[in-house]
Amino acid sequence: MEQGKRKVQAKNLTKRFGELLVLDDISFDVMEGEFLCIVGPTGCGKTTFLNCLTKLYDITNGEILVDGAPINCKKNNISYILQESSAMEWLTVEQNIQFGLGIKRMPAGMKKERTEEMLELVGLTEYRNYYPKQLSISMLQRTVIARAFATYPELLLMDEPYGQLDLDLRFRLEDELVKLWQKTGTTVIFITHNVEEAVYLGERIMVLTNKPTKVKKIISCNLPRPRDVADERFVEMRNEVTELIRWW
Ligand SMILES: Nc1ncnc2c1ncn2[C@@H]1O[C@H](COP(=O)(O)OP(=O)(O)OP(=O)(O)O)[C@@H](O)[C@H]1O
Ligand SMILES: [Mg+2]
Repeated sequence: MEQGKRKVQAKNLTKRFGELLVLDDISFDVMEGEFLCIVGPTGCGKTTFLNCLTKLYDITNGEILVDGAPINCKKNNISYILQESSAMEWLTVEQNIQFGLGIKRMPAGMKKERTEEMLELVGLTEYRNYYPKQLSISMLQRTVIARAFATYPELLLMDEPYGQLDLDLRFRLEDELVKLWQKTGTTVIFITHNVEEAVYLGERIMVLTNKPTKVKKIISCNLPRPRDVADERFVEMRNEVTELIRWW
C-alpha cells in the first residue's frame, strides 16, 4: 500500500443481526484521497458496512475510525449516496445541489458559487430549473452526484449508484465521477457488483467473501487514467478479479 494518511480504519469490525453473523472480524484501511471499490456477493454486508460507518447501525464488535477517531457527524463532512438514492422530486436541479450546502450552513455567496461550479461540472447549468421528473436518467444521476460533491466531502460513500444504467451512460458518469474525485481530492468508497466498473474506477479493489464475511483480497490497480477497457493490462486485471469472485 502506498504511503499516506489513513482516512478510514475498520478494526476487527463485527456486525450481527441477532443470530446472523454478517461482518466477521474485518480489518482494513482506506487511505486519504484513495478511490476504493468494494465488490462482494449479494447479502455479504456491503451496505451494512456503510451503515455501520455512518452510525446508522450499531457495531457489534470492533470499530470504524475516521481520521483516527470514531465518526462524528457534526465534525466529519461525509456524503452518502444510498443504494436507492434519487434526487428530491420536489426540488429543482439547482435546489437539489444546494440542499446539502444548506445543511452545512454555508454563507450565501459561497453557496451560490459552489452551486454554479457543480452545475457546470456535471453539465446541467441549462437545466438548473428543471424538476427531476423532467430529466433523463443520466441527468438525474448527475444531479445526485453533484449534490453529494457540492460540500467537497472528505469522504464520499457510494452504494451501487450506477447499477441500473446502460453501459454507455455508465461510462460517461464514471468519467465524470473520476473527474470530480481528481479535482476535489475526496476519499471515495464505491460499492459495485460490476467487476469492470471496479477495475475502471478503483485504485484498490477489495473483494469480500460470502457470509460470514471476511476480506478475501485487496488488489491494487494503478493503471493510468482514463482507463481503456480494451487495454491488455485492464483485461488482465478484470480477469484476476473475476477469478476471485468466481469462488465466492
Ligand atoms: N436492518 C437489518 N436487520 C436484519 N438483517 C439485516 C438488516 N440489514 C441487513 N441485514 C442482513 O444482513 C445481510 C447483509 O445485508 P446488506 O444489505 O448489507 O448486503 P449487501 O452486501 O449490501 O447486498 P446487495 O449486494 O444485495 O446490496 C443480509 O443477509 C441482510 O438480510
Ligand atoms: Mg447493498
